[in-house]
Amino acid sequence: MDHQGSILPISHELKTSISLYKRPENLGFGSSIAPIMLMSKFTKGRWQEPQIQPYGPIPMAPAAKVFHYGQQIFEGMKAFRRNDQDPFLFRPKENYDRFVRSARRMCMPEVPENLFMSSLKTLVHYLTPIIPQRENESLYLRPMMIATESGLSLKSSGDYLFLIIAAPSAEYFSSAKVRALIEREDCRASPGGTGAFKVGGNYGASIQSGVKANALGFQQTLWLDARQQRYIEEFSGMNFFAVVNGELWTPELTDTILPGITRDSIIKMARHKGMIVREFPIDIDELLNLVSKNICREIFACGTAAVVTPISELGESTGTTYRLAESFGEVTQKLSETIRSIQQTGKCEQFDWVMPIARDQGDGHLSASNEPQNSMIAAY
Ligand code: COI
Repeated sequence: MDHQGSILPISHELKTSISLYKRPENLGFGSSIAPIMLMSKFTKGRWQEPQIQPYGPIPMAPAAKVFHYGQQIFEGMKAFRRNDQDPFLFRPKENYDRFVRSARRMCMPEVPENLFMSSLKTLVHYLTPIIPQRENESLYLRPMMIATESGLSLKSSGDYLFLIIAAPSAEYFSSAKVRALIEREDCRASPGGTGAFKVGGNYGASIQSGVKANALGFQQTLWLDARQQRYIEEFSGMNFFAVVNGELWTPELTDTILPGITRDSIIKMARHKGMIVREFPIDIDELLNLVSKNICREIFACGTAAVVTPISELGESTGTTYRLAESFGEVTQKLSETIRSIQQTGKCEQFDWVMPIARDQGDGHLSASNEPQNSMIAAY
C-alpha cells in the first residue's frame, strides 16, 4: 500500500464551515455535500498547487470542452470512521490506478499519485468530524477531472480541473428488495469503447434504460453484451455475481466491463475462504434456466456505493419474471458481512486494504508523515 501524500493546511474559515455543517438525519446517497472541496488546475502542461475551498459553483466557459464532448472521468470511494477513532480509506491505490487508466483512455493528463493521495488525505483529515459513524454509512468521495479549455474544436483540451467533493452518505440502495430488468435493446458499452473506464458518458447513456426499468417497477438494469445481447455484463454501475451450486460466478473482465474494486475484493475474499470463483462469459438464458430450476439461488450486485446488494428478481420488459430462491442467501450474506466488517472495524488481517488517516485533533498535532505541507507540488 502506498502511503504517499501529506496534509495541506486550511484556513480558519474553512474549519468553521465544517463545524457548522449539519448532517441530515436521513442521509441518503450523495445528496448532502460536505462544505469544502479540493481543486487543482492543469494548464501549460503542469498541475498547479491544489486549493481547498468552500464547496460551491465553479466558474467555467460555456464553450469548455467537457460540456460539448464529455471529456470527463471520475472515481467513487469511501472513508469510514467508527467509535471516534481515526478514519480510514478502503483500497485507495486501486482507485488511483483506475483513475490513471481512465485519464489515458480519454486523452487527459495523469494526476500524479502524490497529488491524488494528498488531496484525499487532506479532505478526509479535515472532514473527520462529519464522517458518519453509524453502521452502513460513510463519507463518499468523488474525485473527478474535467476538460475546461474553451473552444468547440473536437480535440483534447489543454486545460483541466481535478476536483474532489465529498458527501456523508448511506448506501446506494435503502431497500433490500432490488429487482433488475434484463435490458435486451440498449447497450451500455461496446468493444473498443469506454466501458472499462470510469467515464461519465457511460453512466449518462444508461439513464434511458434506468427510466424504462423504473417505469416497469425495477430498480436496476442488467446489461448484456453489445455484439450478441447474450452474455451478462453488469448492473447499472455495479458488477454482477451469481451463486450456483456453491460456486461464485461473475463475468470475466473485458474492455466493456468496469473492473470494480468491490468486485475484486469479493473475488479475493471468496477465494481466501476456499470458495470456487469462476470468471467467464455467463449466458443470460442459461442463467435464467438455472434460476428457474433453483440451481442458481442467489444473485447480487456490488460496487463502492452499493457494497453488496442482493437481487430479489430478474425480469423481462414483456412481464416474465424470475424470482431468486433466496433474496439474501447464505453466500451473499457471508460475503456482505466480511466486507462490511472490514469497513466497520478498519481491521483486515488477510489483505493490506485499509489506509488510516490521522484525524484533525484541532490542536495541530499530527504524526510525522501527516504534517501539513505548504506544497504538494514540490514532490512531483
Ligand atoms: C460507485 O459505486 O461509486 C459508483 O460510481 C456507481 C454510481 C452509480 C453511484
